[in-house]
Amino acid sequence: MTDIDRPGEEKPVAVVTGAGRGIGAATARLLGGQGRHVIVNYRSDAASAAAVVSAIEAAGGTATAARADVCDPAQVDALIGGVLAAHGRIDALVCNANVLQPVRAGLADTTWPDLIDKVTAELAGAFFITQRVLTAMRAAGTGRIVYLSSMSAGWTGKQQIGHAVSKAAVNSFAQQVAAEAGRYGVTVNTVAPGAVRTEASAAFMPAGLDDYLAKHAVLGRMVEPDDVAAVIAMLLDERTAALTGALIPVDGGFDVLQGGPPRLP
Ligand SMILES: NC(=O)c1ccc[n+]([C@@H]2O[C@H](COP(=O)([O-])OP(=O)(O)OC[C@H]3O[C@@H](n4cnc5c(N)ncnc54)[C@H](OP(=O)(O)O)[C@@H]3O)[C@@H](O)[C@H]2O)c1
Repeated sequence: MTDIDRPGEEKPVAVVTGAGRGIGAATARLLGGQGRHVIVNYRSDAASAAAVVSAIEAAGGTATAARADVCDPAQVDALIGGVLAAHGRIDALVCNANVLQPVRAGLADTTWPDLIDKVTAELAGAFFITQRVLTAMRAAGTGRIVYLSSMSAGWTGKQQIGHAVSKAAVNSFAQQVAAEAGRYGVTVNTVAPGAVRTEASAAFMPAGLDDYLAKHAVLGRMVEPDDVAAVIAMLLDERTAALTGALIPVDGGFDVLQGGPPRLP
């Protein structure tokens, strides 16, 4: 028996940031289908968040759309305070929001404000909500937190210094949180996708990436949002309670064949 099917208790609650589309939407749908009440956070696109809620409800689950900019501490307070007032619990937090679209630019084309804005936004999107949620999880003595990083954090030669450095900062932040949260019964892990087919990647990834991955990834295909969602859901499962502080790649085996820092077309 998992915490999901324990009779007589309110459903476990999962907050997924940036869940209106892409990886966050796929994660919200999967978690909703597994019996969690899902808080579908979004920043501006209410229609896409409402569509995710409708899809979860159509499949027999429950969900609530919740607008909040996760980089704004006051909005995060209102979001998490509202969830706790309504449900009295937060069992899982998935820090997924794609807070600032990545740009492909190397050192020569990156300004200091570009770099600082990207690093600041990534860390803000993780910091405020983690502080708020971890307080509640600590009181409950249990909880799961998952951060969305990127394989880009360790890739070089792809002209994306801001994105890489900001995700490396997220990796480090997650390790710090994992070290502190373990004693409260809270596990903290990071998922690092490679190239995933989402709106963000459509704007960011080079043309011809599908063909390139067909030749250069072990699985011979691009990663889909559902692939990443499945790994996130695994990290929230009661049976993975001993897994914390891990950084899990979900890149279809792209790195395996590269034997070094990958070069995109
Ligand atoms: N796609 C990839 O290839 C890839 C690869 C590696 C890592 N990742 C990581 O995976 C995560 C999801 O990426 P994705 O491609 O699925 O993104 P996406 O398709 O661009 O979706 C981003 C979502 O984040 C929300 N969002 C943006 N800023 C926000 C904020 N300040 N507060 C709350 N919500 C906010 C958006 O909401 P609105 O639409 O309402 O603004 C949207 O629902 C990101 O952390 C990304 O860095 C993605």
